[in-house]
Amino acid sequence: MSKFGILTSGGDCPGLNAVIRGAVLKGETVYGQEFVGFRDGWRGLIEGDTMPLDRSSVRGLSREGGTILGTSRVGPYADHGGADVVKGVLADLGIDGVIAIGGEGTASASKRLYEDGVNIVGVPKTIDNDLDATDYTFGFDTAVEIATEAIDRLRTTGNSHKRCMVLEVMGRHAGWIALYSGIAGGAHAILIPEQPESLDQICAWVTSVKNRGRSPMVVVAEGFRLPDMDAAHSTKGLDGFNRPRLGGIAEVLAPLIEDRTGIETRATVLGHIQRGGSPTGFDRVLATRLGMAVTDLIADKNWGHMVALRGTRIVRVDFGEALANHKTVPQDQYQEIRVIFG
Ligand code: F6P
Repeated sequence: MSKFGILTSGGDCPGLNAVIRGAVLKGETVYGQEFVGFRDGWRGLIEGDTMPLDRSSVRGLSREGGTILGTSRVGPYADHGGADVVKGVLADLGIDGVIAIGGEGTASASKRLYEDGVNIVGVPKTIDNDLDATDYTFGFDTAVEIATEAIDRLRTTGNSHKRCMVLEVMGRHAGWIALYSGIAGGAHAILIPEQPESLDQICAWVTSVKNRGRSPMVVVAEGFRLPDMDAAHSTKGLDGFNRPRLGGIAEVLAPLIEDRTGIETRATVLGHIQRGGSPTGFDRVLATRLGMAVTDLIADKNWGHMVALRGTRIVRVDFGEALANHKTVPQDQYQEIRVIFG
């Protein structure tokens, strides 16, 4: 019988548990595969820290947020020994291959491990939906639902006080959450990393809304930059993958909008609320299908690949293709909605 280890790495995401459940159920039932979980991402793999993963341990999991395995932003290289340590741990534990569920940082580390001879496959994950190889990542739909509800709520309090409300959502390189939730919630301006907008333009939109007797609603992605900003707003240092920790652009914009327009303005940073709690039905289905499909990859020893969604079908892509480009919001898709801002 073949034995495989599953890990979840990077920021968590609603649907991770559904992937784990899908993989264990299909792997056991169809292929007779056996699984263990590595605790806290690459850390568990490097240290050989495992937990049992069988049918009973994944019972009822598809509706649960977070990840039962824990996660971290620790990479397998740097000071952690890389492929030699990983191969040693896998040999000691009698594990034939690894399923790494994660975003861009995880896929980069997986690619390097694969090139260094580790049997590894991947499942893409990020609420930001910015991986080019897959049409949607699970967790994105849930984040959009949560952000849309936040917009709906902010609009009622904004209307009562006749204020401009600025909501900041996640989105480091790509404004998908801002775009989708902003459209769903009827925002008057949507600001995304792909498209700098001037303060003059933002204030013109806000003022025209106010002049119609309405309360302006602005949605901004954390990675948005005003034209004079060299980089996205970051005051909290670096994360475990050495990326700047973003967050707070709404708090920069709100006083600027208030000063310029004279309209009382409040900022809300939605933050990790977007990543917590139960996945939507769409995300549960997508995550379960990806988890099931990754057992086909390991059964075929199709190492160095990950599963992805293309249209309605689950396909296989190699790590190189998966990492080639960020999937950002295309100009024409942004312009399509920008024409009705204000
Ligand atoms: O990469 C996904 C993401 O949700 C980004 O949108 C955000 O910048 C980051 O994770 C936040 O990460 P952390 O949980 O480490 O603060």
